[in-house]
Amino acid sequence: MKKLALFGGTPVRTKPFPNWPTVTDELKKQVINTMETDSLGVGSNIIKQFEEKYAEFHDAKYCLSTSSGTTAIWVCLKAAGVKAGDEVIIPPYTFIATGSSILMANAIPVFVDVDPETFNMDPAKLEAAITDKTKVIMPVHIAGNPVDMDAILQIAKKHNIKVIEDAAQAHGAEWDGKKVGALGLGGIFSFQTSKNLSAGEGGAIVSNDKDFMDACYSYANCGRVRGGEWYEHQYLGGNFRLNSMAASLLLAQLETLEKDMDLRDKNRKLLDNAISQIDGLTITEMYPKATRSANHLYLLRYDKDKFNGIPREKFFKAMQAEGVYTYAGYTPLYRERLFAVDSEEYPWLEGINYKDMNFPVTEKLCTEEAVWLKQNHLLGTKDDINDIIMAFKKVTTAMKNDLELFLK
Ligand SMILES: Cc1ncc(COP(=O)(O)O)c(C=O)c1O
Repeated sequence: MKKLALFGGTPVRTKPFPNWPTVTDELKKQVINTMETDSLGVGSNIIKQFEEKYAEFHDAKYCLSTSSGTTAIWVCLKAAGVKAGDEVIIPPYTFIATGSSILMANAIPVFVDVDPETFNMDPAKLEAAITDKTKVIMPVHIAGNPVDMDAILQIAKKHNIKVIEDAAQAHGAEWDGKKVGALGLGGIFSFQTSKNLSAGEGGAIVSNDKDFMDACYSYANCGRVRGGEWYEHQYLGGNFRLNSMAASLLLAQLETLEKDMDLRDKNRKLLDNAISQIDGLTITEMYPKATRSANHLYLLRYDKDKFNGIPREKFFKAMQAEGVYTYAGYTPLYRERLFAVDSEEYPWLEGINYKDMNFPVTEKLCTEEAVWLKQNHLLGTKDDINDIIMAFKKVTTAMKNDLELFLK
């Protein structure tokens, strides 16, 4: 058995994984062309072109670009009619913006635990969380893996509640052969640096509902209305627009996204095949009608009982020493300090004690089980993926057979 790098052996790998985003000549050309020929912001043709292409790519009638995924969520909630004290249902296993943008819209985040097999909102637990104050259900396609949209849309319909998809990580993902985002009232995407489609910062809303999109336009454009005067402001909105440099980067990347997605699919399969053979590691499932994941991140579960009780953190250290960066990812969202909001500032949150909430699946994933690989790893070559597999095999074999070393 090979000696682990953690204990002085030779690491499986010392090379870095591919850079992301990839700055190609085409990207540079597009940005320079935009600077020379287009408006930098308002009135830009490139922004319009990107919105049209992104709507088409995501099987939606409309797209509105925004300054970020966070502002896109806030805009959607306002456009969906969310008022102070309304409730918005989300999973607790997600990035902070899913919850903080609800607080920023003066609404109340209500959590529904996730399904351990998919890391996504568990529809079986959804109905119990609905009250007469529930205005929106906002499932998150975590790591780009589609949530069970059929179940969620059916429950939402029964209770007359709107569905807004947080698809920040799910560019190109498909549910039942249709792209995610506009399956309910609408959905949001993020183009922040690490995302599969990246402009450094940026976001988008997609929908098939014109009235909703007109309202989104207004909230993202200082309360202006389509066809109205420039200095006419009807809603309390802000400037949450994308700029044309960002749109140029996105337009160029839309051309290569499909190729990147194919590579991510291929690499995920290789990893899934190898990792599912390691007793104690469990790969992430997709629901049967989830026809394609965006494979933004690669998530799996670690069972310490299968590794002599060695805690996950030791496993991370051993993997990192081998040159493959695995990490824990999210903490339970409701326990983040910002949920201890001042009830004088937000009186509708009086009496809600987020920090003492406990959602068992999320707790277990966050504290013991979840293992994340960074998104750029899925863009590696076959050799890169083989190195990842080798590191997983080497470390897990040692953990099963060499407990003494780990206890030192
Ligand atoms: C699930 C989720 N929702 C929302 C956001 C917010 O997007 P942004 O960082 O563009 O504001 C992110 C991005 O990091 C995210 O991962």
